[in-house]
Amino acid sequence: MTISEPSRESVSQAKQRCIEPKCGASYGLNERVYVCKSCGSLLDLELNVEQAFDANSLRSLWRERLQSLEPRDRSGVWRYRELLPFANDAPIVSLNEGNTPLYDAPRCADYCALDSLLLKHQGCNPTGSFKDTGMTTAVTQARILGVRLLVCASTGNTSASLAAYAARAGLLCAIMVPEGQVSHAKLAQSLDYGAKVLEIEGNFDACMRAMRELAEDESIYLVNSINPFRIEGQKTVAAELAEQLNWQMPDHLVVPGGNLGNSSAFGKGLHELYQLGLIDRMPCITIVQAVGAAPLASLFLQHEQDLMVEDPTFDIVNLDQPHTLASAIKIGAPVSWKKAWRALRWTSGRVLTVSEQEIADAKAIIGRDGIGCEPASATTVAGIKKLVAAGTIKGDEKVVAVLTGHLLKDTDYVINYHSQKLSMSWESGAGNVKQIVGHFSNQPVRVEASQKAIRQVLEHMQNEQEPQVNPA
Ligand code: F0G
Repeated sequence: MTISEPSRESVSQAKQRCIEPKCGASYGLNERVYVCKSCGSLLDLELNVEQAFDANSLRSLWRERLQSLEPRDRSGVWRYRELLPFANDAPIVSLNEGNTPLYDAPRCADYCALDSLLLKHQGCNPTGSFKDTGMTTAVTQARILGVRLLVCASTGNTSASLAAYAARAGLLCAIMVPEGQVSHAKLAQSLDYGAKVLEIEGNFDACMRAMRELAEDESIYLVNSINPFRIEGQKTVAAELAEQLNWQMPDHLVVPGGNLGNSSAFGKGLHELYQLGLIDRMPCITIVQAVGAAPLASLFLQHEQDLMVEDPTFDIVNLDQPHTLASAIKIGAPVSWKKAWRALRWTSGRVLTVSEQEIADAKAIIGRDGIGCEPASATTVAGIKKLVAAGTIKGDEKVVAVLTGHLLKDTDYVINYHSQKLSMSWESGAGNVKQIVGHFSNQPVRVEASQKAIRQVLEHMQNEQEPQVNPA
């Protein structure tokens, strides 16, 4: 069967639909709504792809496009455009996102007591985080809608990504970030790409609330992951991963959880691949949160037994003062929690928390595999280690961890860890300070500029043992 490109007519049948089964209100593709006007819940894009294509033809088509030089085919998002709500003549805004590596990580596997472990490194996207895969579709939709000013609230990566894609599209953008809580590298990106940076007194959740109110103004387009066009781009990572694994799903897929757009997107992506017959089973999705910023993990603890209920009536309890050094996921009121919960239901998934110490050590081990990531991403390897130790994941099971951001996104954290200066303070009654121990620290050595002194260091180094991946 030959597949024709998604036409305007086929795409025009797509809808935005409320995710609540008892509501199900629908909206046109180009209606500017972020949440259901009728019940206030989240919206999904509904494509009915399963009626139009067959699995083998799609697999071959996507494989053939790897040989193509056309920009849409070079993008690891637009290569899967049959899964997207855009016609073939959409004015796409792309930075050649996606196409990220799937690495074998033997030291991380040893650390977790697994036979093997694969790391899908979304930090290898153009702006250094997974956000680019959703920003390409959201900014393309902004172009279709004809809006000029794009906005987002961010802990730093969404904003860096938006700033880059808005610049590519020649559109204006303003980003709202919590003052003093965003890494310099992320801030530097947004400044260089020309975004108007608004530093807000307050945390990410306060920025998000303010942005949602602002976005009621028709002239402003919000591109946080509450916007379903973001999720559409991000879901293609599931297809890319499946293709890299020759369409054989692992037993477990492990992702960090903050505002919960990423886990929602993996859930939707995998669900659609399954419906299309491209994969024959779903991996179990595990969402890992930092212990001080874990509203979904608390909900899971309370309601695990209700996971299979299609229409849950309970609500998440937001945290006023989330705290973690993994600043990307310092979020107390995750906007997409219902979609993430649905992803857990579809995949019989689970949620767990890891401590600051566990995150920091796991991050250093990911570095030792020559890969590296930002702190939020390391929750995955820390979580896997815990689940293997608890017997929940077996040593011979196939596990993929998703690294969401690049090592260079937060170098202060890295330097502090390796020089034994990493600590966290947060307000909780009288206030707290927690020191993190650099179990795998690698401190720089001061050495005089003489051949003798340098040789001594190098000789000593060669007599040292392979670094142990498990601290004593
Ligand atoms: N990892 C990194 C590196 C992130 O930047 C984020 C979120 C997450 C994980 C969590 O993903 O929110 O989809 O559950 N960063 C957002 C931002 C909040 O503004 O950059 P999520």
